[in-house]
Amino acid sequence: MRAIQVTEHGGPDVLALIDAPTPEAGDGQIVVSIAAAGLNYIDTYQRSGTYPIETPFILGMEGAGTVRAVGARVESVSVGDRVAWKEGLGSYAESVAIEAAEAVPVPEGVADDLAAAAILQGITAHYLATSTYPVQDGDWVVVHAAAGGVGQLLTQIVKLRGGHVLATTSTPEKAELATAAGADKVVAYDQMLDAAKELTDGVGVAAVYDGVGASTFDDSLAALRIRGTMALFGAASGPVPPLDPQRLNRGGGLFLTRPTLAHYTRDRDELTWRTNEIFGWIADGSLRVQIGQRYPLAEAAAAHRDLEARKTTAKSLLIP
Ligand SMILES: NC(=O)c1ccc[n+]([C@@H]2O[C@H](COP(=O)([O-])OP(=O)(O)OC[C@H]3O[C@@H](n4cnc5c(N)ncnc54)[C@H](OP(=O)(O)O)[C@@H]3O)[C@@H](O)[C@H]2O)c1
Repeated sequence: MRAIQVTEHGGPDVLALIDAPTPEAGDGQIVVSIAAAGLNYIDTYQRSGTYPIETPFILGMEGAGTVRAVGARVESVSVGDRVAWKEGLGSYAESVAIEAAEAVPVPEGVADDLAAAAILQGITAHYLATSTYPVQDGDWVVVHAAAGGVGQLLTQIVKLRGGHVLATTSTPEKAELATAAGADKVVAYDQMLDAAKELTDGVGVAAVYDGVGASTFDDSLAALRIRGTMALFGAASGPVPPLDPQRLNRGGGLFLTRPTLAHYTRDRDELTWRTNEIFGWIADGSLRVQIGQRYPLAEAAAAHRDLEARKTTAKSLLIP
């Protein structure tokens, strides 16, 4: 089968199209024929070695497709089922072997490409808005990079919960996408702090959802109300330097958290609660999943370049 391998850590050029053996289903595993693989920022960290994985390895965490084989002791999934997953290393390929426990059934009414586009970023947006800081009716919150993959889904889920979204984007074109996703106010990054104060009569926002990191962190903390929540969930602009806890005191008893997917999908029930809600919202039209870019599998390097150069909007897919 064709697959994208990281032979050594580095820039997008290290991504090589290879001919690899089609995987077999081990104990507790299934093999899926991939209809679409999702591109995520974490893929760039794994490619570069920021999150080290022993090389060589086939990249990619997320996808959707049809089950072709099941291994021993798999009862929950059958050949022919349509499934999606967020944790299946090796997903930039025509087929992948994943743990059956990671496979989530895709309901009728949700196409494979939408499932691949929504599972990882959708679960992220879901846990941020419903669990990390559960948005309350009438809250103002900040969503950074609101035209991006997580950003557009998070904006919509905050609105479903009755919150108001102050969004940031880097260009007017991206601002239009954030508005279309439901953001109440969209500003450039350097205008966010003033806008947060103005929209809340000087009180500050209930939460900031910040996947940008280094370049936004200081203003994000400053935009919070007393006992507000800083949900730092990514580092698209680079990692945030170490911080003095007294800053949280000075900011007003602030809560700072650095959550990740694994902490919010701790067992099968939590995983399927989140995916059932997401797929349900997609099927009934309350959550719109926009696929901004589709790349042939062989063009994975170009996809990575575009993502890191801020040229993408919404979700990017690789099509094997
Ligand atoms: N913790 C978790 O569970 C979890 C799960 C999924 C994703 N994440 C994180 O969430 C963030 C967003 O992920 P995503 O996949 O949805 O990506 P994305 O938002 O579609 O793309 C990243 C966006 O960040 C913005 N950005 C701001 N400064 C940037 C810079 N210096 N370089 C590159 N981009 C910059 C850009 O939007 P503008 O051009 O509008 O600024 C860019 O389009 C990432 O940090 C990712 O690691 C975390």
